[in-house]
Amino acid sequence: MSTDIAQIKIEKTQHSRINEVDFENIKFGREFSDHMFSMDYIDGAWRNLEIKPYQDLTFSPAMSALHYGQSIFEGLKAYRSGDKVLTFRAKDNFARMNRSAKRMCIPQIPEDLVMDALNTLLSLDKKWVPTGEQNSLYIRPFLFATDEYVGIKPSATYKFIIFTCPVGNYYSEPLRVKIETDYTRAIPGGVGEAKCAGNYAASLYPAKLAQEQGFHQLVWTDAKEHKYIEESGTMNIMFVIDGKLITPSLSGAILPGITRHSVLEIAKDWGMQVEERQVSVEEVVLAAQEGRLEEAFGAGTAATIAQIAEISHNDINYKLPAIESRKFSNKVYDFLNDFKRGREEDKWGWIETIK
Ligand code: COI
Repeated sequence: MSTDIAQIKIEKTQHSRINEVDFENIKFGREFSDHMFSMDYIDGAWRNLEIKPYQDLTFSPAMSALHYGQSIFEGLKAYRSGDKVLTFRAKDNFARMNRSAKRMCIPQIPEDLVMDALNTLLSLDKKWVPTGEQNSLYIRPFLFATDEYVGIKPSATYKFIIFTCPVGNYYSEPLRVKIETDYTRAIPGGVGEAKCAGNYAASLYPAKLAQEQGFHQLVWTDAKEHKYIEESGTMNIMFVIDGKLITPSLSGAILPGITRHSVLEIAKDWGMQVEERQVSVEEVVLAAQEGRLEEAFGAGTAATIAQIAEISHNDINYKLPAIESRKFSNKVYDFLNDFKRGREEDKWGWIETIK
């Protein structure tokens, strides 16, 4: 069976909740727009394509995603640009979702079809895309196993959903982070580069311990020696040392972030020296001690460009240069903000306009 956009059944809400939302004070991930898209994988094909009012799901207690973790997701955003709505690199998110799906033994999604479904969903919920330079509509596609079965095997059935939420900033202040040297997020050959639910579950306990010590986030290091920096809890990590933009190379244990890739491309375009390579903890700590660590920041869809104010390693806290002095990360933050709102030339073809 082939699936195409004409097969989407659309049921519009009779009771929009938009007037219940305080758009002046949007909290991240707490408000959900009126509609969602869903489809089911049954007998080897995607079926039951529908856009319907945002609502609860019903499922069996034996639903396999709950027990064995076949569950992946994406995060991307839509932005208001005058009376238009724009998405940023949506195709890249769905392509990454298919890479995660492959690793987790989940069937592929038809990328053109879900792009069209997203377009239709956003045109229906256009009013939910907030105004304001710090605000956007967060889009959450996710895909999970739905077999009612106890036992280890790939599920034969799946559900794919896209819902959206108006959001403000994920982080409200520059971050204090701790370089983690006891716990491990991912190992080469594992699932660290897949955006699967379990990666986030595994991070919660070490992150909680760090929060109890006064940190906002962890910086994960390699599983074998805890010598090399990998990524931070909700984002990739980047440094400016001696004027060069440096970030850990994708080792298989790091999420291939779309914001990460965008920042690297923009930096190269601006003529900055960019290094994607192993980044040792020692190098970063030494640069901080010698005053050569000019900037440190996270890059992610939710986090955008999140400034790191302090890095701690082995109980020693390194205060980094004042946020206002950080030329590159402030400039790339502003540039991306303008770019995603259609105020810069789209030379990379990263923007889609919602019809
Ligand atoms: C994203 O940046 O989109 C993520 O999925 C990370 C999560 C902290 C919201």
